[in-house]
Amino acid sequence: MSHTTDETTTSATPPPPTTDPAAAQAADRDLKAKHRAVWASGDYPALAREVIPELGPVLVAAADVGPGRRVLDVAAGSGNASVPAALAGAEVVALDLAPELFEDGRRRAAEAGVEVTWVEGDAEAMPFADAEFDVVLSCVGVMFAPHHRASAAELLRVCRTGGTVALLSWTPTGFIGSLFATMRPYAPPPPPGAQPPPLWGDEAHVRDLLGTGVEGLSAQRRSLTVGRFAGPGAFRAYFSTRYGPTLAVYRSLAGDPERVAALDRDLDALAAAHTRADGTMAWEYLLVTARRTGEAQVTP
Ligand SMILES: C[S@@+](CC[C@H](N)C(=O)[O-])C[C@H]1O[C@@H](n2cnc3c(N)ncnc32)[C@H](O)[C@@H]1O
Repeated sequence: MSHTTDETTTSATPPPPTTDPAAAQAADRDLKAKHRAVWASGDYPALAREVIPELGPVLVAAADVGPGRRVLDVAAGSGNASVPAALAGAEVVALDLAPELFEDGRRRAAEAGVEVTWVEGDAEAMPFADAEFDVVLSCVGVMFAPHHRASAAELLRVCRTGGTVALLSWTPTGFIGSLFATMRPYAPPPPPGAQPPPLWGDEAHVRDLLGTGVEGLSAQRRSLTVGRFAGPGAFRAYFSTRYGPTLAVYRSLAGDPERVAALDRDLDALAAAHTRADGTMAWEYLLVTARRTGEAQVTP
């Protein structure tokens, strides 16, 4: 399968201007197809259910979600935040690049006895009208769209003035940010202009992206306690088979047992370094909430 690990890039520079819009569009379609394949591989819905189920409810609780609210969950995956938002009484639309994940989401919604509308689409060009939603949220989701300013502009565009933008993102120095940094030397170079996902976990970066499009921005660093893994080897076995970005890096190393062994060692060392005496891990994230101003996205 194709693999892309531009999730691991350190380049924070925006895409270089291209003189050929058709070529740029074709390249973007190709990149998004690769991203879709990455997230559809492995078993992301299992990971969302078994490892990070608390995050959706945390985001929903912070995001002014309730009856009568029209909520958009961007990069919703299998509905980790969409289903809790619907349970809170909101009318919820879940958008994701990888519709393969919706089957599990539909099952979760049915089990919970709620309705969610599932829409295939790209966070950088969403199929919604301006100001359609009262709340636009994303749980470790929009951070994986490669062009941050484009996706930030879309979050703002579809949120009504006075509405809420709420984002939960892994931090660059937390466990998942460090996981991407650890995988980076093993991965093919990212395409030009693709930005690293964990930058969305940096408050200054998010303030810059949302600019005057929001006011009253609050940012809190918090940690998710993960007690799922019996040890570093268990973490690696789980992530290398279920988490698309990790699976993609291993697939790119197929036929190179020495590099595979080196990545194994690096991942084990990373997991060990982040495991506490009681065997649990702390995975740091940034929780951002802000009110939509109705102004354009101008950097302060
Ligand atoms: C780590 S998962 C998070 C899913 C879900 N929000 C959760 O909390 O479990 C990242 C999600 O981002 C989606 N994604 C990546 N790039 C995207 C894009 N450009 N547009 C929309 N979704 C995207 C992936 O398909 C995947 O479902």
